[in-house]
Amino acid sequence: MNTLGPSLDTARQRLEGIGQDHVLAGAASLSQAQLDALLAQIDALDTDHLPGWIEKYVKGEQSFETPTNIQPAPCYPADPDSPKRPWDKAKARGAGEALLRAGKVACFTVAGGQGSRLGYDGPKGCYPVGSVSDKPLFQIFAEGILATSKRYGAPLPWYIMTSPLNHDATVAFFEQHNFFGLPADDIVFFSQGSMPSLDKSTGRMLMSAPGVIATNPDGHGGAIRALWESGSVDDMKRRGAEHLSYFQVDNPLAGVADPVFLGLHAGAEDSSGEFSSKMVAKAEPGEKVGVFCSVNGRVEVIEYSDLPDELSSQLEGDGSIRFNAGNIAIHALGVPFIEKLATDPAFELPFHRAIKKVTHVNPETGETIEPGEPNAVKLERFIFDAIPLAGRSIVYETKRVEEFAPVKNAQGTDSVVSSKAIQTERAAGWLERAGVSIPRKADGSPDCVIEISPLYALDAEQLAARSDLPKSVAPGERLLLDDA
Ligand code: UTP
Repeated sequence: MNTLGPSLDTARQRLEGIGQDHVLAGAASLSQAQLDALLAQIDALDTDHLPGWIEKYVKGEQSFETPTNIQPAPCYPADPDSPKRPWDKAKARGAGEALLRAGKVACFTVAGGQGSRLGYDGPKGCYPVGSVSDKPLFQIFAEGILATSKRYGAPLPWYIMTSPLNHDATVAFFEQHNFFGLPADDIVFFSQGSMPSLDKSTGRMLMSAPGVIATNPDGHGGAIRALWESGSVDDMKRRGAEHLSYFQVDNPLAGVADPVFLGLHAGAEDSSGEFSSKMVAKAEPGEKVGVFCSVNGRVEVIEYSDLPDELSSQLEGDGSIRFNAGNIAIHALGVPFIEKLATDPAFELPFHRAIKKVTHVNPETGETIEPGEPNAVKLERFIFDAIPLAGRSIVYETKRVEEFAPVKNAQGTDSVVSSKAIQTERAAGWLERAGVSIPRKADGSPDCVIEISPLYALDAEQLAARSDLPKSVAPGERLLLDDA
């Protein structure tokens, strides 16, 4: 039992005003601590905007209006000598390296997702993925950051966005592992915001337990607000970081700070240095990835489900896919751009709705309800919705095998098994370019398992310069090249 005080009355009035007072149905039987926690949850709700969001995203018809003037987004091809668009890679690399040497770059990992498809009990960044070592995702990035910072002789701060659901476990993991050798001061953890999970048919907030509103992290697009509200933007300014190298926690091959990409982002004539992206060529016209398009001259990502078939299936004269630029969620963002988006309500990112199964309790009876079908709407913001808000945004092509091996699912496509295979494929390619002989199966895939730690080599050029490479790899060998 608890003391029902004036703050409960205020909370009740606020909730009644928006038709959500069922949340307080069992309040009288909560302990004081439970009630205080619930009141804090209610206090944090944006009750001014919630009814409008429910009308729009839960009750409203979700339709995407295909813009009339969609073209493929212009891209910097992976091959700088491509006749499609030749460009000066050495100049871009020089510009990016200068930024890194001057300490003007910070890394930013979004790690607040729930990882529900993977079904792992813990923050996804703790998941073991190294193809030989089973190193966790966070360690692989930490090694990349350590190696990059050493290479350019400058600090490379790392901002990690968690969610209220995994923040403490994430920080504890780094503490247990001594921050994987990075200076603890150079890693900044902050939590993103949450949204209440809503009943799909009524828009009522669901309760995850008696007195607890069910919530979900507000999407990777919640990063803009969270970077600002956590004080991370101020922290970046204090450290002199002008650009963020953005990658997701689930892609162990993401380069933590690619100088060529950063140089293009910050220095190319057609970039405003605000929001740049990497793309890979789509594997097939129907591949389920967002596509970089140009809409009335502005770059934006159109989700695969919104890109009409007649566009996604279009081919160029040479047979290549016309709308080919798949989004792999590797971006570069200017720090002033983040500040602009976070502080001007005109630049607020929209929500998207995801329909999911959410176990919940009946607030009146306390009975637990395990839904058989998806029953809830989760509202999330997407980071790529910020792209058309940038003055001029560029897209740079990279090779899938070099930078994209995501771990999304427990099995099959985009699983740890497929990720490890791609990691080995990339490592094998780097070693072959350095003159090392690699055994291959009849289908061309490596007949071995290889892992190259970022501490051993950050890229193929650095690998080729090593004097301690093996001459060959034996069939069936498991080879870990590591300098730890
Ligand atoms: P996904 O869209 O793959 O979602 O996130 P997820 O939550 O990790 O996994 P599922 O869909 O539940 O299986 C892509 C990236 O965005 C981050 C994730 O941590 C991952 O790095 N993310 C996603 C956030 O940081 N916050 C969010 O609210 C959602």
